[in-house]
Amino acid sequence: MELFDRITRYRYEYPNRYSSVKFIDYMITDLEESREEELPGKLADICRIIRQVFGYSRYEPTNPYGFHKRVPAARNVHTNEAFLIWDGRISRYNCKRDVFERVGFCAGETGRVRLIAAAELWRIMKFYGEFGLVLPLLDAGHILAELKKELEAAGRTDAEILYGAADPEEYERLGMSPKSNLITLEVDLGEGIFPGLTRENRRRYSRVMNYDAEVSAYEAAEWVLPYEEGFSRRKLVSDPRSVNPFEETEKRESAHNHIGVCSLERTIPEETAKSYLRQLEDYMNHYMEDTGRYRVHMLYTTEEGQRLQRIEGGKAGVAEPAGIDKGQLLHDTARMIDMESMPVIVYISYLYDEALTEKENIYNAHIGAAEICHWFLLNGCRDGYFGRPMRNLNDAYVEKAFNAKKGERFMYSMILGKANTQNYVYRL
Ligand SMILES: Cc1cc2nc3c(=O)[nH]c(=O)nc-3n(C[C@H](O)[C@H](O)[C@H](O)COP(=O)(O)O)c2cc1C
Repeated sequence: MELFDRITRYRYEYPNRYSSVKFIDYMITDLEESREEELPGKLADICRIIRQVFGYSRYEPTNPYGFHKRVPAARNVHTNEAFLIWDGRISRYNCKRDVFERVGFCAGETGRVRLIAAAELWRIMKFYGEFGLVLPLLDAGHILAELKKELEAAGRTDAEILYGAADPEEYERLGMSPKSNLITLEVDLGEGIFPGLTRENRRRYSRVMNYDAEVSAYEAAEWVLPYEEGFSRRKLVSDPRSVNPFEETEKRESAHNHIGVCSLERTIPEETAKSYLRQLEDYMNHYMEDTGRYRVHMLYTTEEGQRLQRIEGGKAGVAEPAGIDKGQLLHDTARMIDMESMPVIVYISYLYDEALTEKENIYNAHIGAAEICHWFLLNGCRDGYFGRPMRNLNDAYVEKAFNAKKGERFMYSMILGKANTQNYVYRL
């Protein structure tokens, strides 16, 4: 698990040390002469879902932190773009213009519909360097959680999920270089929707800028990026028994603030915290096949003191009193984020699977942890809490404080709080 550990637990030992003067758009990168197109009515539900999940719900042209989507993204960069392959044609959803654009074709895929999420890596690696390689996988976990609930609601439960590229040529079809992009996941929506409509069109579009040199400057790119076959296919819904519906996705917020992030409510009623974990247990078992690989550690503060409750093996355990020093949980953002004030802090860890390749472990660990995080934060936003996902964590202290098992790696965390301070308003 050397590579796995290098880009997770030891990520801060490989700091960013490369810069580039090439322009990269902070919303989406462009394709040469890409052309807007209308998609057929039969795809209306899929297009609506793509717009909901990948589209902007708030947009201020001059303030990147004013952008908002249903899903959060590391640094708010939203590296994952949506591509729809339908009846042999390939369309990209352009979130900046809220339109679909034709970008290529896919020979031999008549009648099939696939949704692919692919990330332009330099957009995030320019901030984080090497471990930026895998941040789009965490973003993809949030996207997958949203896609699962929306596709389930639309009755498309026979869809299947595949992490990574379907074959080595997939990047080329999307007009992307495999040396600086990462296909994070695919949703296979099945066959037979447009029998025999394909007219082959040899024209392909490509990206205006190429970031191979920037991304290849990081050694780990060479090991993380190449296509690997044999990743397992997953069901959209693992257990068809119904779960409580989600309602308040539109209200999801990570509490951006010019001053810093704090919670004005420092405690949470015991029953509320426990109900969030019970709900999470339901969602995990409903939507995931390998729940046993993830441990969830929920640290919460009631009027009586700190409590720790876990989900392991897909089941919620009992709450125990805890005495964790919240001030030591962050790696380097302690001055920006007041952890002491947070009523709920959640850590999600992954138990490395020796039976799988390192690369499949990397995909499973990141995407699964972020899916879990997303369901938990949706629980909280129903009650007006903000939920901020965080990759910034002090691994050594967190492993000690939460009694890490052999092969257990802490992948992700989130803080839940209420009533952050008002944004500072600039006076002219
Ligand atoms: C993968 C991922 C990692 C993140 N890591 C951090 C972090 O380490 N520290 C932090 O303050 N925020 C972190 N965030 C929160 C993002 O900055 C925030 O979600 C983004 O700016 C969008 O804001 P919004 O969630 O209000 O739409 C992370 C978000 C994601 C999805």
